[in-house]
Amino acid sequence: MKEMMMLSLVVYLCCLLCSCAAESNGEPLNPPVDNPGEINLPVPKTDGRISLEQTLLKRRSVRKYAQKELTLEQISQLCWAAQGITARRGRIGFRTAPSAGALYPMSLYLLKKDGYYKYIPETHSLKLISKENLLEDLTEAALGQPYIKKAPVTFVISGDYAKCAKRYRDRAPLFVHVETGHIGQNIHLQAVALGLGSVPIGAFRDEDVKDVLGLPDNEAPLYIIPVGYPE
Ligand SMILES: Cc1cc2nc3c(=O)[nH]c(=O)nc-3n(C[C@H](O)[C@H](O)[C@H](O)COP(=O)(O)O)c2cc1C
Repeated sequence: MKEMMMLSLVVYLCCLLCSCAAESNGEPLNPPVDNPGEINLPVPKTDGRISLEQTLLKRRSVRKYAQKELTLEQISQLCWAAQGITARRGRIGFRTAPSAGALYPMSLYLLKKDGYYKYIPETHSLKLISKENLLEDLTEAALGQPYIKKAPVTFVISGDYAKCAKRYRDRAPLFVHVETGHIGQNIHLQAVALGLGSVPIGAFRDEDVKDVLGLPDNEAPLYIIPVGYPE
């Protein structure tokens, strides 16, 4: 009996150690691979100089930006806040933002003057999709809201309803929209913590945004978030 209890304790401690080992201290859990066309992002920081309460207090929609580019470190931090992998258990990479059933049906895109990229959480990297400047067209698709093309970086979040519906059926639209909000808020708060500003944009023509970005049929554009230094 005593031996059985000792064995159970050893097994429990091993499991605990393994699960701790899978927690991230900020290092991407899968180091970036050398892939042509993919930009390895710097390791994100997991501490900052401003409290969560202060970021909540200071967050305001910012629509005017200084003409100053963001650094790769800032872009890395914003992508990580949105969809970075923070723990790995089995085959699932758990992310900064919660996801119903850990299905992760969302994609994060980033537009700058020099091109259009997709964030790849698994490798904490950016995959170049096009070197075109699509910001003018995206602005038009969002009813001409000028801050999109004036911001140094604009994020677009898309969602795959069908992926979520396989498990959650008619709850899928709700779950995908809630997850969009989680990701969006992470970007807004991280922006404040970096001394930056952002604005949520929901007023856009879905089909036009899809066309501009060439999104696959299964992805719906749900949120646009320009980020930059407040003017
Ligand atoms: C879902 C959603 C969609 C929004 N869409 C737009 C938009 O298209 N254009 C815009 O300028 N602001 C948009 N906003 C920002 C709101 O106008 C803003 O959050 C509100 O005025 C409150 O101000 P605050 O964000 O500074 O607290 C949106 C906000 C949310 C939550």
